[in-house]
This record gives sequence, structure tokens and C-alpha cells, in this order.
Amino acid sequence: MIKHNQQEIDRRRTFAIISHPDAGKTTITEKLLLFGGAIQQAGEVRARKAARHATSDWMEMEKQRGISVTSSVMKFTYRDYEINLLDTPGHNDFSEDTYRTLTAVDSVLMVIDSVKGVESQTKKLLEVCRLRHTPIMTFINKLDREGREPLDLLDDIESTLNIQCAPMTWPVGMGKRFRGTYHLYSKELTFFDPAADRGTGQIETVKGLDDPRLDELLGSQVEELRNDVELLEGAAHPFEQEAYLAGLQTPVFFGSAINTFGVQQLLDTFIEHAPAPLPRETESRVVSPYEEPFSGFTFKIQANMDPAHRDRIAFFRICSGKFTRGMKVRHNRLGREVQIANATIFMAQDRTNVDEAYPGDIIGIHNHGTIKIGDTFTQGEELKYTGIPNFAPEHFRKVRLLDPMKSKALEKGLVQLAEEGTTQVFRPLMGSDWIVGAVGLLQFDVVMHRLEHEYNVKATYEPVSYVTARWVTGEKKKLEEFEKREAMNLYRDGEGNLAYLAGSQWRLDNTMDNWKELQFHATREHN
Ligand code: G4P
Repeated sequence: MIKHNQQEIDRRRTFAIISHPDAGKTTITEKLLLFGGAIQQAGEVRARKAARHATSDWMEMEKQRGISVTSSVMKFTYRDYEINLLDTPGHNDFSEDTYRTLTAVDSVLMVIDSVKGVESQTKKLLEVCRLRHTPIMTFINKLDREGREPLDLLDDIESTLNIQCAPMTWPVGMGKRFRGTYHLYSKELTFFDPAADRGTGQIETVKGLDDPRLDELLGSQVEELRNDVELLEGAAHPFEQEAYLAGLQTPVFFGSAINTFGVQQLLDTFIEHAPAPLPRETESRVVSPYEEPFSGFTFKIQANMDPAHRDRIAFFRICSGKFTRGMKVRHNRLGREVQIANATIFMAQDRTNVDEAYPGDIIGIHNHGTIKIGDTFTQGEELKYTGIPNFAPEHFRKVRLLDPMKSKALEKGLVQLAEEGTTQVFRPLMGSDWIVGAVGLLQFDVVMHRLEHEYNVKATYEPVSYVTARWVTGEKKKLEEFEKREAMNLYRDGEGNLAYLAGSQWRLDNTMDNWKELQFHATREHN
């Protein structure tokens, strides 16, 4: 096969950082951008994060929409590589978008706080990665603090996340006694200097662990290192590129992001080992990035700055071919040709118009609601990329309309907001109250605010006792029986698919047990 655009594709790395809030994602992002020359000084990303999280009030957040658009994708160059770092919103703005962003990357970087170990949000995000066998590199952060024992942390990752760990570096001490890391493969010792601001530590090359130079450098702590490494030889897995690429093994680095320690080591290994843009599945076949015709899919829709215009930006991942400004593409869902006149590429600091882009790149396409999540564009071939799902909501609210005359507008608003992927809507088979479902709580405020300001609908929420949802499919007769018996808990989502909502995990398990002939799905592909 001829590999079109090979050079451009092979030097691209598209990834996201996953972590629990406060593990150090922002700090690492900032250091990566510094290395890439995309920002000039530490603090720039932090300032944006602060602006975004200064309040959990949607009114304020809306003012920041511009910020969240520009920081959704950060593109920078490092050595000869073009890096696309996709932001995965956490904290208050955790939402389905956070999950869906993971469908647009080729690999992820997982950041773990050495004091806390594996935390809940990391676990959730990692489950999505595991579904897709996404390669995962791990950075254990905050070694300058008294954290858990390194071996204990590896154990935690292995057992909680069910993935093999292959330590690449090993820390010498921690907290006040943190001296640096020893690279298990290059046999280099990197010294930690808490006073150094941007420094990456002084590197000493030693000839293995028996080198007397190590004794001079580490003093009494050298024995600790020798014992640890000996232990590791029996207990840890050696790094295997294949196992990493298959998502079965994660290479692990230790460091202290705030001190820029270990971050460059990580980045250097990352560009070397992380995958370039990968082949992607469609309903009919697998598409190689090196194919000549352009194709890709939308994984996120964001309302633009000016709500009055209902202008939306579709975040589009290029999967094959080359994008050129003004090109005509086939929109698979509409079945017709459209011209992409106005596309944006996201640089770390702002947005600029894009003239050309390649697989792995993310472009922003302006539109007025014609593009939905999951839409595929091609140069003629009828393809649909798969694996860009809706995820079962985890929080639910009943919507009570305050002006009964506005029920049509309410429906329109709820359905359109669901199309943007903000939330999901469920209309009951019995009764008339809509239920809104979300994976992050802030989304409920977003919906109310936008209903009022963009659709002129006043409504409130009432609590409802659901905790989980599943889409249900199966043979027609069985489904009809199910609909009759379980009608009280059955709904249709914005696209008309049958969904079962349950008040407890126990209730869900029980129902699934009673209806073994039916399939209950935690995710659903976009139509
Ligand atoms: P997040 O995006 O994952 O939520 O984490 P973020 O980078 O904002 O880091 C969370 C907190 O942890 C910050 O402190 C940050 O300074 C600190 N931190 C990050 N990396 C390290 C590290 O290597 N060592 C230590 N000791 N701390 C680290 P904060 O007090 O919340 O904010 P700030 O006052 O530092 O701005």
C-alpha cells in the first residue's frame, strides 16, 4: 500500500491526560507546553484553569466559553513532533465530553498522585480507555511529598486498574529524602534539585548499580536503590512495546511536576513510543491513516461565544488523508456534499484558520446545528466511524415546566442540547415529564440556563430516584412484553431509543437477571 502523507502522520501524537482532580494534570500540561515552546512562562494554563473553576455558576462559566474552547485542544511542537493534547474536563465540568474526548485520541497519559494512589475519576476514565485498548503511559507525581511506597503504588495500579506496570524509572527516596530517579534501562541517575525552577535535574550516567560513583552521589541511600531494583527484577514486568500498544501494560515514570522533574524524561519516551495516528474502525471496514482520501468524525460539539446565533463548533478528528481549506466533503448522515469553508485549528494559545491538516489533528468546524456528534465526513465513500458512544448517565433530574404553553419549546431545547452531548433526555413511556440525565452535575445548571436564555423556556428540576440507565435492545416480541411489564421505568431517549432507568444497582441487576433474552447496554452509538 502506498503510504500517503507518511512523514506528516508519523510525526503526530494525539493524546489526553487522565487523572483525578488535583493529581497535577494542569501542572504537567503547563510543563509540556513550556517544553514545546507554546507558552512562555509557567502560570498561563493555571490562570485559565482558575478562571474556569473560580465558580461553579454556569453564568460565570458561560463567560469563559471562549476559554474552554481554546483549551479543548492544545497543539504544540516538540523536537520534530506535532503534538495534539486534548483536554479532558474534570472537577465541576466533568461530563460526557470528558469520556468522548478519549475516543478521539491515540493514547493517554495517566497521572497519579503519589500520596493518594488510584482515585475514583481516574478509574472511571480508565475504564473507557480499556474498552478501546488505548495505550496508557503513567506518571506518578508529587514525589517531593511523603507519599505511598512506590511498590505499593504499582500494586494499587495493577490491582485497581487491572493493567501490568512496567517501571521505567525508579525513585530514590521521597519527600525530604527524594534524591532523584534512576532510569532502569538507560542506567542514568537524574538528580533532584528542588531549588531548580525549570531544570530537569542534573543527569549522571553511571555504569549500572555497582558503579562506585553511585555511592558517592547517593551516600547511604544507595543501598535502598540497590535493594529496590533487585526486588523489581523479580516482581515487576519488563517494558514491552507490544504490550503497551495493546493497552495491556503501562510504562511508569516517577517525578514531581511542580519542580519540572521527570516530565521531560516522560515526554521523550512518549514521543518515541506512543503511537502515531492509528487505523480506525468504521461500520464497513478499517481505515488506515495513510489512505489518500480525507475522512474523520466529530466527537464534540460546543456552543460558541454568541448564544443568539446558535453557532456551534464541531470538534473533528481527522482519521485519513489531508484536509485543505475550502474542501468539499460528504456528510454521511445527511448523505450530501458540504463545503468546509471555515475551519479552525487549535493552537495552545488561540485559534487560527487552518489551511491544511493531517490525521491526528483536530479541527474545529463552524456550523449552525447541521453537524452532530458521531457524524463522519469523507471524500465520497459511504463510511461511518464507530466507537463514539453516548455513555449511560449517572445523575438524573425530572424537568417541571413552569409555563405549560411552552412544552414544544421545551422539547426542542432538550433534544437539541442532547444532540450537543451536554446531557441526555428521556421521555417516559407513561406520563409526560421529561427526565434529564448527565454524567456530571454541572450539566444540569447548563441546561436550565440555556433553556431560559436560548429557548425562552422557564423550568425547574425535581429530584427523581434513578441512579443508572441502560439502553435495551432485543427481539421484538420480548421487547413488547418488557415494555408492558416495566413501563413505569421505561423511556425513549432523544433519538427514540428504548432506555431502562433504575433506582439502584441492585434493581438493575435484578431486572437484567429477569430478562436474560434482552440486551442491556451501558453505551450507545450515535445514530
Ligand atoms: P489538576 O489539574 O490535576 O487538578 O492538578 P493541578 O496541576 O492543578 O495540581 C493540583 C495541586 O497540586 C496544585 O496545588 C499544584 O501546585 C500541586 N502539585 C502539582 N504537582 C505537584 C508536585 O509535583 N508536587 C507537589 N508537592 N505539588 C504538586 P494547589 O495548592 O491546589 O495550587 P497552587 O496553589 O499550587 O496553584
